[in-house]
Formats: sequence, structure tokens, C-alpha cells
Amino acid sequence: MTDIATRAAAVADEARSRIAAAATLDELKALDHELLGKTSVLGSLKASLRDVPPEERAAAGRALGEARARVEAAVAEREASLAAVARIERLEEERLDLSEVLPTPPLGHLHLITQTWEMLEDIFVGMGYTVAEGPEIESDWHNFEALNMPSGHPARSMWDTLYLDPGDGSAPETVLLRTHTSPVQIRTMVDAEPPIYIVAPGRVFRRDTPDATHLPVFHQIEALVVDRGIGFADLAGTIEAFVKALFGDERTTRLRPSFFPFTEPSAEFDMSMPDGGWIELGGCGMVHPNVLRAGGLDPDEWSGFAFGFGIDRIAKELHGVDDLRELVGNDIRFLSQF
Ligand code: FA5
Repeated sequence: MTDIATRAAAVADEARSRIAAAATLDELKALDHELLGKTSVLGSLKASLRDVPPEERAAAGRALGEARARVEAAVAEREASLAAVARIERLEEERLDLSEVLPTPPLGHLHLITQTWEMLEDIFVGMGYTVAEGPEIESDWHNFEALNMPSGHPARSMWDTLYLDPGDGSAPETVLLRTHTSPVQIRTMVDAEPPIYIVAPGRVFRRDTPDATHLPVFHQIEALVVDRGIGFADLAGTIEAFVKALFGDERTTRLRPSFFPFTEPSAEFDMSMPDGGWIELGGCGMVHPNVLRAGGLDPDEWSGFAFGFGIDRIAKELHGVDDLRELVGNDIRFLSQF
């Protein structure tokens, strides 16, 4: 074998292992130039062919050609595999995962007070009651007078009232933000004939300073039953039934004598607590004859009971809320728990 042939084979061997190690297409391109270009070792061996004796020149030339072909083949092979890897990498980068399921945007839900309001309505509707409504801006007559509290009656001071001036020439202190849902009793009696079985949930307003158990704007639900032969036991049984429906059979209720001008006798009702204590839920009593009269009903023919309690305080008890002010703070971290 000629010297050129030996050297060409050695160059090709070394070139093939360098080509196999090329990590990128750019690196391979540089190698291709270095190993096969005019200034490459193979290039200079080719130039030196002219110094080979003529009888050996063909064999040397063939050996050089084979060496070159091996290097070219190695470059082509490496190029193909690097290109395939680059293609896979590019596809991976550009990949659009059309099967991806986007997370559902967080949906809101009803406020805790609304949920409680609706639960209470459902319980009473299940007991045969219908839902009644009245305005938040009320007349003094509906809020007080027709409820057996003529002007100057000392019981009016039980409710710290916000009066309005509607600017229509109304006399002072005759238009107000209702302090309770009891005026809906009057509106219902004026509008409908007994038998009456209604509940009236709604927003009420008082000049109360906010604290853990008081809000100046809160919610009550009123119940009014007017029928023949309604007695105090019906009232006690109805209160017991709704409290059990709401809080469970292990709870019970008790009535304590109290005073409201629009009921006689009147009571406050409490619910038992798991720790053996009691909490006050609301006020109740037999509808006062003067109230039946104001509603256009004959007290000798009809009798009834009424009660009213705070929806916010019920929500507080149902969900273990510490402070009523949390309910109106609009803190999404608090509200989203319910
Ligand atoms: C009344 O408002 C009477 N109208 C209830 C009534 C209806 C008696 C029918 C008889 C017959 P009182 O002012 O006690 O009563 O309020 C009733 C309930 O509303 C309270 O027991 C309490 O649960 C709730 N409440 C009262 N003030 C607030 C307040 N500032 N914040 C939140 N809840 C309140």
C-alpha cells in the first residue's frame, strides 16, 4: 500500500470518530469543511498525488477516493441523525396541546345570607306557607301605628329608627326605613282574607352600632298565621318544627315571657345549644286584637300568631360564624368557604 493510501485510511478513521461525536449541525458543518475542504489533510494528500510515481498513482488515487467517500458517508449519516433530532426538538417546542382542558374559571355562589334566607323559605313553604313581601321604605303607620304603637308610644324606642325625607311634602317622621318585617303583617291582612299562612323575609334597618351580634342593616323573617281557633300551642309547635328542620332533631326551643306591643301574650324564643346553653332567636306572640282590627279583621272571628327573627343570626349559628360583620365584609376568602 502506498504511503498516501495508508495516511488517507488513517485520516478517514480519525475523521469518522470525530464526525460521530459532532453534537450539532453547526459543529458538523465546520468538521465537513475541515475534513473535506481544499485545505483539509485529504485535500493536501490529493495535491500530493502528482508526486506519486505514475504506476502507483491510480491505486493511491483510488484509496484517497475511498477514504474521502467514507468521510462523506459519515458526514451524511451524522447529518441525517442530527437533523432528525433537531426536527423532533422543534416539533416539541412548537407543539400545541389541543387536548388540554382549561380549568373552569371560578364560579360565584349565593351569599351565605341568601342561602339561609332560601333555606328558611323552603322550610316554611314545605309547611304550607306562602312568601309575602313588603317595601323597605315604609310608612310610620305600617311600621308602628297599625302595630299598636300610636305616636308617642314608649315602645317605639325599642327600635332606633332611621327616618327619611322623600321631599314630597310628607310630614316629618312619617316615612322611614322599616325597623322590622312586622309591617308586612299589616300589608298582608289588609290585602288578603284569612286563612293567612305567610312568611315575609326581608332587609331591615336600625341605628344599631355594628358589633359581633348586631348590624345596622340586617335581615329578618316574619311569620304570620291568622285562622279560626289558632292558639298559643300552635305558635310553640311551629317554632319547634322550624328550628328542628333547620338545626336538627336534637335541638329544642323554649319561650320566655316578653313584651311586644303587637302581640299579646308575647314571648321571646330561644334554641338549645349543644353545650347545654340557650340562644335567643327572635320574638313572637298571639296577634294583638288591635293589630287584627288595623288589618281589617274581626278579632272575635279570627285569631293568629306571629313571630320574627334574625336571618343573619341564624346564618351565624348554622355555620359557626364568630362575628356578624364578617357577613358584610365582602372578603372573598371568608365568603368562598360557604
Ligand atoms: C322584632 O323586631 C319584632 N318585630 C319581632 C316580632 C315579630 C315579635 C312578630 C313578635 C311578633 P326584635 O327587635 O327583638 O323584635 O328583633 C328580632 C330579632 O332580630 C332578634 O331576636 C335578632 O335575632 C334580630 N336582630 C335584632 N337586632 C339585630 C341587629 N342589629 N343585627 C342583627 N340581628 C338583629
